[in-house]
Amino acid sequence: MSTAPFPSGPPAGGAPGAPAHRLSGVDSIRRMGLIERYRDRLPFADDDPVVSLNEGSTPLVHAPRLSERVGAEVYLKYEGLNPTGSFKDRGMTAAVSAAVREGSQAVICASTGNTAASLAAYAARAGIRGVVLVPDGKIAAGKLAQALMHGAQVIALKGNFDEALRLVREIAEHHPISLVNSVNDFRIEGQKTAAFEIVEDLDGPPDALCIPVGNAGNITAYWKGFREAADAAPDGFGDGRPRLPRMVGFQARGANPLVRGEPVADPETVASAIRIGNPARWEQAMDAMVSSGGRVADVDDAQILDAYRFLAREEGVFCEPASATSVAGLLAHGAVSPEGLDRPERIVCVLTGHGLKDPQTALDESPPVIPCEPTLKALERILLG
Ligand SMILES: Cc1ncc(COP(=O)(O)O)c(C=O)c1O
Repeated sequence: MSTAPFPSGPPAGGAPGAPAHRLSGVDSIRRMGLIERYRDRLPFADDDPVVSLNEGSTPLVHAPRLSERVGAEVYLKYEGLNPTGSFKDRGMTAAVSAAVREGSQAVICASTGNTAASLAAYAARAGIRGVVLVPDGKIAAGKLAQALMHGAQVIALKGNFDEALRLVREIAEHHPISLVNSVNDFRIEGQKTAAFEIVEDLDGPPDALCIPVGNAGNITAYWKGFREAADAAPDGFGDGRPRLPRMVGFQARGANPLVRGEPVADPETVASAIRIGNPARWEQAMDAMVSSGGRVADVDDAQILDAYRFLAREEGVFCEPASATSVAGLLAHGAVSPEGLDRPERIVCVLTGHGLKDPQTALDESPPVIPCEPTLKALERILLG
C-alpha cells in the first residue's frame, strides 16, 4: 500500500466520459458543459478527459428597475445558476479536467468558500481527492455545507485567505497535488467563457462590465474573453459599437487593496467571498481596468447590503452579498464616463454567486417571520390588520 499522501497516476475510476445520449437543438447548448461548447477556444483536444457538471450557459437577465435608476440598459449575468451556485464552476471544469489529464489524483485550493464548494463537487465527479483551506469561521454556511457534503477534506485555517493561499502554493510546489486557485491558468481559460456568452447574447460586448473583485481572477478572465471575442470579429459586431467593454471593478471598502494601491493586512467586510487583502492577479486586473478605459472603486458594507436587498426585492434576483458589490458600485459610482467617452448605454453587472450560499446574511437582513395561530381569525388579523 502506498504511504504517499498524494499518490500520482490516473484516478481510480477515470474521468466521466461522453454523455450516454445526445440532446438536440437549443437544449443541447444549454445542457452541454462549457468545454464541450467552446472546445475550439479552450486548451482541450477532442479526446481529452472532461470533468463537467454542465456548467456555464447562465442567463443574462434584463433588470428593468435597475436600468431605470441608472439611466442605461442594465443586464445581470446570473452566475449563481451554475451547478454549485457560483462562477467558480467555469474555472473548475477546466482546472480539474486538466489535472485529470496530467494524471493528478488530488486537487487543493485556498478559498473564501465558493472555490471550496466547486472544487469539492468537481473532485467528487472526477473521483479524485479534494482538499480545501478556508479561513476559520469566516465562510458562509451554504459553501461549507457543499464542500463537506461533496466529501472534500475541509481544513479551517487560523488565518485569513491570503495566508491560506500562500500555504497551498507552497504545498503544491512540494507535493503531487494540483493547485486549482485562479493562479492556475486553466481557471482563467474556463472563466473567460462567460464573456463569450455575453457577446453572443447581446450580439456584441456591453459598453461596460461591472464586476466584484477579490483575488482578481474573474476580471482577468472576462477581459481575456472579451479580447478573444473581439479578435474573432475583426470587422466589429456590425453596429458600430466599441469592440471592447470598459472593465469596471468594485471592491468592498474594508478589503480594497486595488483602490488603495497597497495590500490590506486585515481585510474585513460582510461580503465574505471578497474578503481578500492581496489579490494574486493584481497586475492583470489593473491592466484590464486601465487599458479598457474603466476603473476600480469601492463601496461600503451598507451600500453592498442595500444593493443585495434591492436585487432580491425589486428584480427578483437573489445573489450573495459579494455579488451585489457590482450593482452597489454601479449605483454609487456609475459605470464611468471619463471625459471624451460616451455614456455607457448597455451595462452588464456580474452576479457571481447565488444568495442561498449565505442564508445567515439573508436572515439577518430580512424582517422576522410572522407567527400565526392555526385559525382563520388569526390569519385575517395578520393580513387585514
Ligand atoms: C461570490 C464571489 N464573488 C466574487 C469573487 C471574486 O472573484 P475573484 O477572486 O476572481 O476576483 C469571489 C471569489 O471568491 C466570489 O466567491
